[in-house]
Amino acid sequence: MSEEAPPGKSAPVQIGLLGRGNVGAAFEELLAERGEAVAAATGRRVELAGVLTRSEGDFEQILAGSELIVELMGGTEPTREYVLAALRAGRPVVTANKQLLAQHGAELFAAAREAGVQLRFEAAVAAVIPIVRTIQESFGVAEVARVFGIVNGTTNFILTEMAARGAPYDEVLAEAQRLGYAEADPSEDVNGADAAAKMAILARLAFHTPVGLDQVSFEGIEAIAPDDLAYAKELGLSLKLLGIAERRSGGISVRVFPCFLYGGHPLAPIQGSFNAVTVQGPAFGEVTMSGPGAGGMQTASAVLGDVVSIIAGEAPVHVTRAELPIVADVPSAFYLHLEVADQPGVLARIATVLGDHDVSVKSVVQRGSGDEARLVMVTHECLESRFAAAVGALAEIPELRAAPRYIHVIEGAE
Ligand code: HSE
Repeated sequence: MSEEAPPGKSAPVQIGLLGRGNVGAAFEELLAERGEAVAAATGRRVELAGVLTRSEGDFEQILAGSELIVELMGGTEPTREYVLAALRAGRPVVTANKQLLAQHGAELFAAAREAGVQLRFEAAVAAVIPIVRTIQESFGVAEVARVFGIVNGTTNFILTEMAARGAPYDEVLAEAQRLGYAEADPSEDVNGADAAAKMAILARLAFHTPVGLDQVSFEGIEAIAPDDLAYAKELGLSLKLLGIAERRSGGISVRVFPCFLYGGHPLAPIQGSFNAVTVQGPAFGEVTMSGPGAGGMQTASAVLGDVVSIIAGEAPVHVTRAELPIVADVPSAFYLHLEVADQPGVLARIATVLGDHDVSVKSVVQRGSGDEARLVMVTHECLESRFAAAVGALAEIPELRAAPRYIHVIEGAE
Protein backbone atom coordinates (compact mmCIF):
# COMPACT_ATOMS: atom_id res chain seq x y z
CA MET A 1 0.00 0.00 0.00
CA SER A 2 1.25 3.48 -0.85
CA GLU A 3 2.42 5.73 1.98
CA GLU A 4 3.42 8.56 -0.37
CA ALA A 5 1.99 12.02 0.17
CA PRO A 6 -0.39 13.31 -2.51
CA PRO A 7 1.13 15.66 -5.12
CA GLY A 8 1.22 19.44 -4.50
CA LYS A 9 -1.79 21.66 -5.30
CA SER A 10 -0.27 23.39 -8.32
CA ALA A 11 0.30 20.13 -10.20
CA PRO A 12 -2.51 18.55 -12.20
CA VAL A 13 -4.80 16.27 -10.19
CA GLN A 14 -3.69 12.76 -11.02
CA ILE A 15 -6.69 10.44 -11.29
CA GLY A 16 -6.34 6.69 -10.96
CA LEU A 17 -9.06 4.93 -12.95
CA LEU A 18 -10.07 1.42 -11.96
CA GLY A 19 -11.98 -0.22 -14.80
CA ARG A 20 -12.41 0.65 -18.46
CA GLY A 21 -15.72 -0.97 -19.34
CA ASN A 22 -18.69 0.90 -20.74
CA VAL A 23 -18.64 3.63 -18.05
CA GLY A 24 -14.84 3.71 -17.58
CA ALA A 25 -14.23 4.28 -21.29
CA ALA A 26 -16.89 7.01 -21.34
CA PHE A 27 -15.30 8.66 -18.30
CA GLU A 28 -11.90 8.68 -19.99
CA GLU A 29 -13.45 10.30 -23.05
CA LEU A 30 -15.35 12.86 -20.98
CA LEU A 31 -12.29 13.74 -18.91
CA ALA A 32 -10.37 14.58 -22.07
CA GLU A 33 -13.33 16.47 -23.54
CA ARG A 34 -14.20 18.49 -20.41
CA GLY A 35 -10.66 18.89 -19.02
CA GLU A 36 -10.57 22.63 -19.74
CA ALA A 37 -13.94 23.13 -18.05
CA VAL A 38 -12.77 21.20 -14.98
CA ALA A 39 -9.63 23.36 -14.79
CA ALA A 40 -11.72 26.54 -15.15
CA ALA A 41 -14.13 25.41 -12.42
CA THR A 42 -11.60 24.12 -9.91
CA GLY A 43 -8.35 25.91 -10.73
CA ARG A 44 -6.63 22.57 -11.31
CA ARG A 45 -6.03 20.51 -14.40
CA VAL A 46 -6.79 16.80 -14.39
CA GLU A 47 -4.76 13.92 -15.79
CA LEU A 48 -5.17 10.17 -15.83
CA ALA A 49 -2.40 8.66 -13.73
CA GLY A 50 -3.16 5.18 -14.96
CA VAL A 51 -5.91 2.72 -15.72
CA LEU A 52 -6.39 -0.67 -14.13
CA THR A 53 -8.13 -3.29 -16.26
CA ARG A 54 -8.00 -7.08 -16.32
CA SER A 55 -5.07 -6.93 -18.74
CA GLU A 56 -3.23 -3.71 -17.87
CA GLY A 57 -2.02 -1.62 -14.95
CA ASP A 58 -0.83 -2.27 -11.43
CA PHE A 59 -3.06 -1.13 -8.57
CA GLU A 60 -0.26 -0.20 -6.13
CA GLN A 61 1.51 1.81 -8.79
CA ILE A 62 -1.67 3.62 -9.83
CA LEU A 63 -2.54 4.38 -6.21
CA ALA A 64 0.94 5.74 -5.52
CA GLY A 65 0.70 8.07 -8.50
CA SER A 66 -2.88 9.28 -7.89
CA GLU A 67 -4.47 12.00 -5.82
CA LEU A 68 -7.96 10.64 -6.38
CA ILE A 69 -9.33 7.22 -7.35
CA VAL A 70 -12.30 6.63 -9.66
CA GLU A 71 -13.68 3.11 -9.31
CA LEU A 72 -15.68 1.92 -12.32
CA MET A 73 -14.66 -1.72 -12.42
CA GLY A 74 -17.83 -3.04 -10.77
CA GLY A 75 -18.22 -6.21 -8.73
CA THR A 76 -17.56 -6.40 -5.01
CA GLU A 77 -14.21 -8.24 -4.94
CA PRO A 78 -11.43 -7.25 -5.36
CA THR A 79 -13.09 -3.84 -5.75
CA ARG A 80 -13.80 -3.60 -2.03
CA GLU A 81 -10.13 -4.17 -1.20
CA TYR A 82 -8.99 -1.56 -3.72
CA VAL A 83 -11.43 1.06 -2.47
CA LEU A 84 -10.52 0.38 1.17
CA ALA A 85 -6.81 0.58 0.33
CA ALA A 86 -7.33 3.88 -1.50
CA LEU A 87 -9.33 5.42 1.37
CA ARG A 88 -6.84 4.23 3.97
CA ALA A 89 -4.04 5.75 1.90
CA GLY A 90 -5.88 9.08 2.15
CA ARG A 91 -7.23 9.16 -1.40
CA PRO A 92 -10.80 10.31 -1.98
CA VAL A 93 -12.77 7.81 -4.03
CA VAL A 94 -15.56 8.27 -6.56
CA THR A 95 -17.52 5.15 -7.41
CA ALA A 96 -20.58 4.17 -9.44
CA ASN A 97 -20.75 0.78 -7.76
CA LYS A 98 -24.13 0.37 -6.05
CA GLN A 99 -23.65 -3.27 -5.07
CA LEU A 100 -20.35 -2.42 -3.41
CA LEU A 101 -21.98 0.34 -1.34
CA ALA A 102 -25.15 -1.62 -0.58
CA GLN A 103 -23.22 -4.67 0.58
CA HIS A 104 -20.13 -3.09 2.17
CA GLY A 105 -21.21 0.50 2.81
CA ALA A 106 -20.72 0.34 6.59
CA GLU A 107 -17.07 -0.68 6.25
CA LEU A 108 -16.31 1.71 3.40
CA PHE A 109 -17.97 4.77 4.93
CA ALA A 110 -16.21 4.07 8.25
CA ALA A 111 -12.87 3.86 6.42
CA ALA A 112 -13.56 7.16 4.65
CA ARG A 113 -14.51 8.86 7.95
CA GLU A 114 -11.42 7.51 9.71
CA ALA A 115 -9.13 8.68 6.92
CA GLY A 116 -10.94 12.02 6.66
CA VAL A 117 -11.47 11.65 2.92
CA GLN A 118 -14.55 11.67 0.73
CA LEU A 119 -16.28 8.67 -0.76
CA ARG A 120 -18.65 10.01 -3.43
CA PHE A 121 -21.16 7.95 -5.38
CA GLU A 122 -23.66 10.09 -7.28
CA ALA A 123 -23.48 7.77 -10.30
CA ALA A 124 -24.40 4.71 -8.22
CA VAL A 125 -28.07 5.76 -8.13
CA ALA A 126 -30.08 6.80 -11.18
CA ALA A 127 -26.95 7.73 -13.17
CA VAL A 128 -27.05 11.41 -14.02
CA ILE A 129 -30.02 12.44 -11.82
CA PRO A 130 -28.41 14.35 -8.92
CA ILE A 131 -30.44 12.56 -6.27
CA VAL A 132 -27.54 11.66 -3.99
CA ARG A 133 -26.32 15.20 -3.60
CA THR A 134 -29.87 16.50 -3.30
CA ILE A 135 -30.62 14.20 -0.37
CA GLN A 136 -27.15 14.59 1.17
CA GLU A 137 -26.89 18.33 0.77
CA SER A 138 -30.22 20.07 0.07
CA PHE A 139 -32.18 17.78 2.42
CA GLY A 140 -29.20 16.91 4.64
CA VAL A 141 -30.92 18.07 7.82
CA ALA A 142 -34.53 17.96 6.64
CA GLU A 143 -36.92 15.26 7.80
CA VAL A 144 -37.48 12.91 4.88
CA ALA A 145 -40.64 10.83 5.08
CA ARG A 146 -40.31 8.82 1.89
CA VAL A 147 -38.13 8.36 -1.18
CA PHE A 148 -39.53 6.39 -4.06
CA GLY A 149 -38.85 6.01 -7.71
CA ILE A 150 -37.98 4.14 -10.83
CA VAL A 151 -34.29 3.47 -10.35
CA ASN A 152 -33.52 0.82 -12.93
CA GLY A 153 -33.29 1.90 -16.56
CA THR A 154 -33.11 -1.58 -18.05
CA THR A 155 -36.40 -2.77 -16.57
CA ASN A 156 -38.18 0.48 -17.36
CA PHE A 157 -36.93 0.18 -20.94
CA ILE A 158 -38.14 -3.43 -21.12
CA LEU A 159 -41.58 -2.68 -19.65
CA THR A 160 -42.00 0.39 -21.87
CA GLU A 161 -41.11 -1.46 -25.07
CA MET A 162 -43.18 -4.51 -24.19
CA ALA A 163 -46.22 -2.36 -23.41
CA ALA A 164 -45.86 0.00 -26.36
CA ARG A 165 -45.17 -2.44 -29.18
CA GLY A 166 -45.66 -5.87 -27.67
CA ALA A 167 -41.94 -6.55 -28.18
CA PRO A 168 -40.72 -9.90 -26.84
CA TYR A 169 -38.88 -9.77 -23.53
CA ASP A 170 -35.63 -11.34 -24.78
CA GLU A 171 -35.38 -9.00 -27.74
CA VAL A 172 -35.81 -5.88 -25.56
CA LEU A 173 -33.35 -7.13 -22.95
CA ALA A 174 -30.74 -7.71 -25.69
CA GLU A 175 -31.38 -4.16 -26.94
CA ALA A 176 -30.89 -2.77 -23.40
CA GLN A 177 -27.58 -4.63 -23.20
CA ARG A 178 -26.50 -3.30 -26.58
CA LEU A 179 -27.32 0.26 -25.51
CA GLY A 180 -25.20 -0.13 -22.37
CA TYR A 181 -28.08 0.15 -19.87
CA ALA A 182 -27.87 -3.34 -18.40
CA GLU A 183 -25.44 -4.59 -15.76
CA ALA A 184 -22.65 -6.98 -16.74
CA ASP A 185 -24.97 -9.64 -15.32
CA PRO A 186 -28.43 -8.45 -16.47
CA SER A 187 -30.15 -10.78 -14.02
CA GLU A 188 -29.39 -8.10 -11.38
CA ASP A 189 -31.54 -5.70 -13.39
CA VAL A 190 -34.48 -7.99 -14.04
CA ASN A 191 -34.59 -9.65 -10.61
CA GLY A 192 -34.67 -6.30 -8.79
CA ALA A 193 -31.25 -6.59 -7.11
CA ASP A 194 -29.87 -3.53 -8.90
CA ALA A 195 -32.83 -1.38 -7.85
CA ALA A 196 -32.65 -2.83 -4.33
CA ALA A 197 -29.00 -1.79 -3.97
CA LYS A 198 -29.90 1.73 -5.10
CA MET A 199 -32.81 1.92 -2.64
CA ALA A 200 -30.50 0.75 0.18
CA ILE A 201 -28.19 3.65 -0.66
CA LEU A 202 -31.03 6.18 -0.83
CA ALA A 203 -32.55 4.91 2.43
CA ARG A 204 -29.18 5.21 4.20
CA LEU A 205 -28.89 8.82 3.04
CA ALA A 206 -32.50 9.83 3.61
CA PHE A 207 -32.89 8.33 7.09
CA HIS A 208 -29.28 8.56 8.32
CA THR A 209 -29.28 4.91 9.23
CA PRO A 210 -27.24 1.94 8.01
CA VAL A 211 -29.19 -0.05 5.41
CA GLY A 212 -27.70 -3.05 3.66
CA LEU A 213 -28.91 -4.95 0.63
CA ASP A 214 -29.99 -7.79 2.92
CA GLN A 215 -32.53 -5.45 4.55
CA VAL A 216 -34.28 -4.60 1.30
CA SER A 217 -37.06 -6.90 0.17
CA PHE A 218 -37.16 -7.05 -3.60
CA GLU A 219 -38.82 -8.75 -6.52
CA GLY A 220 -38.14 -8.17 -10.21
CA ILE A 221 -40.05 -8.28 -13.45
CA GLU A 222 -39.29 -11.89 -14.38
CA ALA A 223 -42.76 -13.17 -13.49
CA ILE A 224 -44.60 -10.43 -15.42
CA ALA A 225 -46.71 -11.98 -18.18
CA PRO A 226 -47.58 -10.22 -21.46
CA ASP A 227 -51.26 -10.16 -20.52
CA ASP A 228 -50.45 -8.22 -17.31
CA LEU A 229 -49.14 -5.49 -19.59
CA ALA A 230 -52.23 -5.79 -21.76
CA TYR A 231 -54.49 -5.36 -18.70
CA ALA A 232 -52.42 -2.40 -17.58
CA LYS A 233 -52.98 -0.74 -20.94
CA GLU A 234 -56.68 -1.53 -20.95
CA LEU A 235 -57.18 -0.16 -17.43
CA GLY A 236 -55.10 2.97 -18.07
CA LEU A 237 -52.41 1.85 -15.64
CA SER A 238 -48.64 1.82 -16.10
CA LEU A 239 -46.56 -1.12 -14.98
CA LYS A 240 -43.30 -0.01 -13.35
CA LEU A 241 -40.58 -1.50 -11.19
CA LEU A 242 -40.79 0.75 -8.16
CA GLY A 243 -38.43 1.24 -5.22
CA ILE A 244 -39.81 2.70 -1.98
CA ALA A 245 -37.97 3.67 1.20
CA GLU A 246 -40.23 5.13 3.86
CA ARG A 247 -40.65 5.76 7.55
CA ARG A 248 -43.15 3.33 9.11
CA SER A 249 -44.14 3.08 12.79
CA GLY A 250 -40.79 3.84 14.42
CA GLY A 251 -38.73 2.18 11.73
CA ILE A 252 -38.24 2.16 8.00
CA SER A 253 -39.35 -0.06 5.17
CA VAL A 254 -37.28 -0.44 2.00
CA ARG A 255 -38.76 -2.44 -0.87
CA VAL A 256 -38.62 -2.96 -4.62
CA PHE A 257 -41.51 -4.51 -6.56
CA PRO A 258 -43.32 -4.28 -9.88
CA CYS A 259 -46.51 -2.30 -9.52
CA PHE A 260 -49.40 -0.76 -11.37
CA LEU A 261 -49.55 3.03 -11.18
CA TYR A 262 -52.69 4.94 -11.96
CA GLY A 263 -52.48 7.32 -14.96
CA GLY A 264 -52.12 10.51 -12.91
CA HIS A 265 -49.22 9.24 -10.80
CA PRO A 266 -46.10 11.42 -11.24
CA LEU A 267 -44.01 8.38 -12.15
CA ALA A 268 -46.50 6.93 -14.67
CA PRO A 269 -45.15 8.91 -17.66
CA ILE A 270 -41.50 7.87 -17.11
CA GLN A 271 -40.57 5.96 -20.26
CA GLY A 272 -37.67 3.97 -21.62
CA SER A 273 -34.36 3.96 -19.77
CA PHE A 274 -35.29 7.13 -17.89
CA ASN A 275 -35.36 7.04 -14.08
CA ALA A 276 -37.27 9.31 -11.72
CA VAL A 277 -37.02 9.73 -7.98
CA THR A 278 -39.46 11.53 -5.68
CA VAL A 279 -38.53 12.72 -2.19
CA GLN A 280 -41.25 13.70 0.29
CA GLY A 281 -40.90 15.48 3.62
CA PRO A 282 -43.16 17.56 5.86
CA ALA A 283 -41.18 20.79 5.47
CA PHE A 284 -40.42 20.76 1.75
CA GLY A 285 -43.37 18.80 0.36
CA GLU A 286 -42.47 16.79 -2.69
CA VAL A 287 -39.64 16.98 -5.19
CA THR A 288 -39.37 14.75 -8.27
CA MET A 289 -36.35 14.54 -10.51
CA SER A 290 -36.14 12.55 -13.72
CA GLY A 291 -33.54 11.92 -16.37
CA PRO A 292 -31.38 9.26 -18.00
CA GLY A 293 -30.90 6.53 -15.42
CA ALA A 294 -28.48 4.35 -17.31
CA GLY A 295 -25.91 4.48 -20.08
CA GLY A 296 -22.14 4.84 -20.18
CA MET A 297 -21.83 8.55 -20.90
CA GLN A 298 -24.71 9.51 -18.61
CA THR A 299 -23.14 7.62 -15.72
CA ALA A 300 -19.69 9.01 -16.51
CA SER A 301 -21.14 12.51 -16.41
CA ALA A 302 -22.27 11.97 -12.81
CA VAL A 303 -18.84 10.57 -11.95
CA LEU A 304 -17.17 13.67 -13.34
CA GLY A 305 -19.48 15.86 -11.26
CA ASP A 306 -18.25 14.09 -8.13
CA VAL A 307 -14.62 14.43 -9.21
CA VAL A 308 -15.12 18.19 -9.66
CA SER A 309 -16.79 18.51 -6.24
CA ILE A 310 -13.85 16.78 -4.57
CA ILE A 311 -11.25 18.89 -6.36
CA ALA A 312 -13.22 22.03 -5.53
CA GLY A 313 -13.19 20.99 -1.87
CA GLU A 314 -16.96 20.65 -1.50
CA ALA A 315 -18.04 18.11 1.10
CA PRO A 316 -21.53 16.75 1.88
CA VAL A 317 -23.30 17.74 5.11
CA HIS A 318 -22.34 15.44 7.98
CA VAL A 319 -25.35 14.12 9.90
CA THR A 320 -25.28 12.03 13.09
CA ARG A 321 -26.52 8.52 12.49
CA ALA A 322 -29.13 6.51 14.36
CA GLU A 323 -30.10 2.90 13.84
CA LEU A 324 -33.71 2.50 12.75
CA PRO A 325 -35.33 -0.94 12.69
CA ILE A 326 -36.60 -2.39 9.44
CA VAL A 327 -40.40 -2.79 9.33
CA ALA A 328 -40.99 -5.83 7.15
CA ASP A 329 -44.79 -5.95 6.92
CA VAL A 330 -46.51 -2.93 5.36
CA PRO A 331 -49.88 -2.34 3.69
CA SER A 332 -50.43 -2.35 -0.05
CA ALA A 333 -53.25 -2.74 -2.55
CA PHE A 334 -52.93 -5.56 -5.08
CA TYR A 335 -54.01 -6.65 -8.53
CA LEU A 336 -54.94 -10.32 -8.39
CA HIS A 337 -55.26 -12.47 -11.48
CA LEU A 338 -56.92 -15.86 -11.11
CA GLU A 339 -57.41 -18.40 -13.87
CA VAL A 340 -60.55 -20.21 -12.80
CA ALA A 341 -63.08 -22.85 -13.84
CA ASP A 342 -66.16 -21.04 -15.17
CA GLN A 343 -68.61 -22.58 -12.67
CA PRO A 344 -71.25 -21.39 -10.17
CA GLY A 345 -69.90 -20.74 -6.69
CA VAL A 346 -66.24 -20.18 -7.63
CA LEU A 347 -66.35 -16.43 -7.11
CA ALA A 348 -68.10 -16.94 -3.76
CA ARG A 349 -65.41 -19.40 -2.64
CA ILE A 350 -62.66 -16.97 -3.60
CA ALA A 351 -64.43 -14.10 -1.84
CA THR A 352 -64.72 -16.21 1.31
CA VAL A 353 -60.98 -16.97 1.35
CA LEU A 354 -60.15 -13.30 0.84
CA GLY A 355 -62.64 -12.25 3.53
CA ASP A 356 -61.26 -14.81 5.98
CA HIS A 357 -57.85 -13.11 5.58
CA ASP A 358 -59.23 -9.57 5.95
CA VAL A 359 -58.53 -8.81 2.31
CA SER A 360 -61.21 -6.52 0.95
CA VAL A 361 -61.96 -6.46 -2.78
CA LYS A 362 -62.32 -3.08 -4.44
CA SER A 363 -63.20 -4.21 -7.95
CA VAL A 364 -63.57 -7.48 -9.80
CA VAL A 365 -64.24 -8.42 -13.42
CA GLN A 366 -64.45 -11.71 -15.23
CA ARG A 367 -62.49 -11.92 -18.48
CA GLY A 368 -63.16 -14.69 -20.99
CA SER A 369 -65.33 -17.72 -20.36
CA GLY A 370 -65.13 -21.52 -20.29
CA ASP A 371 -61.50 -22.65 -20.34
CA GLU A 372 -60.36 -19.08 -20.82
CA ALA A 373 -62.15 -17.68 -17.77
CA ARG A 374 -60.20 -15.52 -15.39
CA LEU A 375 -61.04 -13.19 -12.56
CA VAL A 376 -59.10 -9.97 -12.39
CA MET A 377 -59.50 -8.00 -9.20
CA VAL A 378 -58.00 -5.09 -7.32
CA THR A 379 -57.98 -5.17 -3.52
CA HIS A 380 -58.04 -2.37 -1.01
CA GLU A 381 -54.86 -1.90 0.99
CA CYS A 382 -54.07 -4.69 3.43
CA LEU A 383 -50.93 -5.91 5.17
CA GLU A 384 -48.72 -7.75 2.71
CA SER A 385 -48.48 -10.72 5.10
CA ARG A 386 -52.30 -11.09 5.10
CA PHE A 387 -52.41 -10.87 1.33
CA ALA A 388 -49.63 -13.48 1.01
CA ALA A 389 -51.55 -15.79 3.36
CA ALA A 390 -54.72 -15.27 1.31
CA VAL A 391 -52.87 -16.09 -1.93
CA GLY A 392 -51.51 -19.25 -0.29
CA ALA A 393 -55.06 -20.31 0.63
CA LEU A 394 -56.44 -19.39 -2.82
CA ALA A 395 -53.85 -21.64 -4.45
CA GLU A 396 -55.53 -24.59 -2.69
CA ILE A 397 -58.94 -24.00 -4.34
CA PRO A 398 -59.42 -26.87 -6.81
CA GLU A 399 -61.20 -24.68 -9.39
CA LEU A 400 -58.06 -22.61 -9.95
CA ARG A 401 -56.39 -23.62 -13.21
CA ALA A 402 -53.04 -21.94 -12.45
CA ALA A 403 -51.19 -20.40 -9.52
CA PRO A 404 -52.59 -16.95 -8.55
CA ARG A 405 -50.68 -14.00 -10.04
CA TYR A 406 -50.52 -10.68 -8.27
CA ILE A 407 -48.89 -7.28 -8.62
CA HIS A 408 -48.82 -4.30 -6.21
CA VAL A 409 -51.07 -1.36 -7.07
CA ILE A 410 -50.52 2.27 -6.12
CA GLU A 411 -53.71 4.12 -6.81
CA GLY A 412 -53.09 7.51 -5.25
CA ALA A 413 -49.97 9.69 -5.28
CA GLU A 414 -47.72 7.93 -2.75
N1 HSE B 1 -28.17 -1.39 -15.06
C1 HSE B 1 -28.51 -0.15 -14.49
C2 HSE B 1 -29.91 0.23 -14.95
C3 HSE B 1 -27.51 0.90 -14.88
O1 HSE B 1 -30.43 -0.39 -15.87
O2 HSE B 1 -30.48 1.13 -14.39
C4 HSE B 1 -27.44 2.05 -13.94
O3 HSE B 1 -27.17 1.68 -12.64
